Amino acid sequence: MRLVHHPILEFKRGKRITFSFDGREIEAYEGETIAAALHAAGVRALSHTKQGSPRGLFCAIGKCSSCLMTVDGIPNVRACVTPVREGMEVCSQTGPGAIDPGFRPRHRAPAKRRAVEVAIVGAGPAGLSAAHTLLEWGVRPLVVDENPHLGGQLIKQTHKFFGSRAERAGTRGVFHRPGPGGGSEGEDRGP
Ligand code: FES
Repeated sequence: MRLVHHPILEFKRGKRITFSFDGREIEAYEGETIAAALHAAGVRALSHTKQGSPRGLFCAIGKCSSCLMTVDGIPNVRACVTPVREGMEVCSQTGPGAIDPGFRPRHRAPAKRRAVEVAIVGAGPAGLSAAHTLLEWGVRPLVVDENPHLGGQLIKQTHKFFGSRAERAGTRGVFHRPGPGGGSEGEDRGP
């Protein structure tokens, strides 16, 4: 249930660890998200609506609320962008979870302060483009993002149902531009 080969991405597996999901022990690799580890373990329903309908992965980039889970006592954690940790306790939840007033988090990252000339919030296409322009002007910006990697919407799968055909809307997979030696227009190696 894990991708091993991909035409353009390399998968480097971290150390094997375990965490619990609703009391069940799940194996995972450091560096993968909770949702990825649960998907690999065959878990498809991450939470349920108040009406009892199962909810699972939807956007997979932290931009919806389909994968909200309770992690180490903290409700409404997005499982698709939260890395697994050894010994973590993950529970499915019903509807939006509420924080217990007496709750004290077990893991709290210390706050860091940094003085920078320009801070860019968001490492998606706009943030990266702004950072690139600033670098050209000799300014070194700090780019911050809620995700552990750059890209934002760039790493989201393309939609099949809207957009411009000229911009390859509806095309899935990896598009290869022709090299200097010519060849065909390109190759869709999807899905
Ligand atoms: S699946 Fe959309 S935020 Fe996780």
